[in-house]
Amino acid sequence: MKDLAGKTAFVTGGASGIGLGIASALAQAGVKVMLCDIEQGALDKALAGLRATNADVAGVVADVSLKDELRKAAQATLDTYGDVHILVNNAGVGGGGSYGAWTDASWDWTIGVNLMGVIWGVEIFGPLIERHGQGGHIVNTASIAGLISGSGNAYNVTKYGVVSLSEGLRAELAPRNIGVSVLCPGFIRTRIVDSARNRPDRFPDQQQVRPSAEAEWLETVRARVETGIDPRYVGDLVREGIEGDWPYIFTDAEFEPVVDARFAMIKQGFDRIRDRTPPAG
Ligand SMILES: NC(=O)c1ccc[n+]([C@@H]2O[C@H](COP(=O)([O-])OP(=O)(O)OC[C@H]3O[C@@H](n4cnc5c(N)ncnc54)[C@H](O)[C@@H]3O)[C@@H](O)[C@H]2O)c1
Repeated sequence: MKDLAGKTAFVTGGASGIGLGIASALAQAGVKVMLCDIEQGALDKALAGLRATNADVAGVVADVSLKDELRKAAQATLDTYGDVHILVNNAGVGGGGSYGAWTDASWDWTIGVNLMGVIWGVEIFGPLIERHGQGGHIVNTASIAGLISGSGNAYNVTKYGVVSLSEGLRAELAPRNIGVSVLCPGFIRTRIVDSARNRPDRFPDQQQVRPSAEAEWLETVRARVETGIDPRYVGDLVREGIEGDWPYIFTDAEFEPVVDARFAMIKQGFDRIRDRTPPAG
């Protein structure tokens, strides 16, 4: 999408962190932005801050893991702005433990927000973007953890899912004049490590004992996030990614060697069987 000015965007998780960075960058480019978030207080603060810069923004409270709330948020966007051109499925939580620390509620919460919220966002907003015939763009926030998996936790599983969904949709939606990008950030300075602040009661934290290795790992992540990249820079990259129809939006090249190592291992798998002939019949 080359001309963003005057278009409308819907951004989930828009009240803080990366979502707010994206909302700000789009608003500065003249996009009307509907910020959607589960956290009313943060949403009010974000809207006040953006309006102080003369941005044309509105807000709606919704839990993206509840399809009906997302539907209502879409209706609120149409009621406010008429049409919608850009969907940013960004809301996400750092939930779920590693092997040995799994609970059903953590899987359900993480899959509900990080994956089903994105799937439903596309399902609900896709036809709304198509119907005006002006084209549009979808950005799904995955993570670099959607390309390299250091542990079998729910977060990584959902992020691989978002990468897969985005790659597939990119091919499917191009003929409908809708671009699709997947955002795979590294460490960004946000409140992701404190995601439990938005954990709905229907997904109770049942974890009795937190394995010490997991607690240690979480502290490392917290330290990296606290000194991470400015989310406003990520917002600028996303705006550029929409304008340039980038398939992948990365925030830095820190993990490129790890992605290379994964691809090398996949290639080794092919090399092992390349010269073998599968049995007939
Ligand atoms: N911060 C990082 O280092 C990093 C790295 C890779 C990917 N990401 C991804 O970036 C996205 C944004 O996270 P962030 O880092 O800005 O964290 P954040 O916690 O600062 O922001 C997340 C926002 O999503 C909202 N949210 C949470 N659950 C919701 C729900 N059920 N419905 C609607 N809104 C909800 C929160 O209220 C918050 O405003 C997530 O998808 C996350 O997985 C973050």
